[in-house]
Amino acid sequence: MNDQYQGLAKFYDQLVQKSRNYDEMTTELARIIGEARDLLEIGIGTGLVAENLLQIKPAYKITGIDISEPLLEEAQKRLGQKVDLYSQSVSELNIGKKFDVAYSRGGAWTFVNYGSETILASHIFSSTDIQKSFDGVAQHLQAGGRLIIGFSNFYTNTYTNKVIELDDCIVHKKISTTELSEHERYAIFDYHFYQNDELVTQQTLKFRLLSHQTCTMMLEKAGFVEKDINPGKYYTYLKAT
Ligand SMILES: C[S@@+](CC[C@H](N)C(=O)[O-])C[C@H]1O[C@@H](n2cnc3c(N)ncnc32)[C@H](O)[C@@H]1O
Repeated sequence: MNDQYQGLAKFYDQLVQKSRNYDEMTTELARIIGEARDLLEIGIGTGLVAENLLQIKPAYKITGIDISEPLLEEAQKRLGQKVDLYSQSVSELNIGKKFDVAYSRGGAWTFVNYGSETILASHIFSSTDIQKSFDGVAQHLQAGGRLIIGFSNFYTNTYTNKVIELDDCIVHKKISTTELSEHERYAIFDYHFYQNDELVTQQTLKFRLLSHQTCTMMLEKAGFVEKDINPGKYYTYLKAT
């Protein structure tokens, strides 16, 4: 699977820590996780969410998967033996273990606002592979286990289309566009990083956009029922079968 974070890896932590409040996001996630212990993070990236969760509750047993080798290397450096890491796509999930909770906080999929709709933005493009990813997660959850999908402020993010400053005289700009074809919608984000006015890195992130209704139907097909919606934060699904 295509690693869309290769060009961002060097700047990832600086960038996201400037635009997101990991403390707040993780405190809310821990509240929803409650007493569950065995957790699967889908798209663990550099391990920032897992690190915060372990600070809140060191008893969590976290397994993380990701398809980006450079980000996984950062997660390994950050978390060492505290987590189990796998280089794996969620659409080919195969970890010989069942979890109490699986979560994706801006990982393989995230909920976003698109006009007045809340829709799913997925790093996985084909409907077949998205369905396989939901099926695979359901198979890796205990009976009564939960899938938690976070919300990202994709389009309302104050940094979109604005220049922001990082360390070492690096400035960054993110430009968003939408691609529409007859049956499919995609969000495209172009990240540009400049140092002293020279382009040092450019990376494009692309997400398939699915209506909430389509996403709910696919989750139901995988055996999930909607349990709790905390708009703008987290969407929780229960493994029902
Ligand atoms: C925006 S980052 C979020 C990382 C982390 N959850 C955080 O909040 O900092 C999205 C991550 O999802 C990963 N990802 C994308 N597609 C994936 C897939 N099919 N399976 C597993 N991880 C995936 C990317 O490589 C990237 O590390």
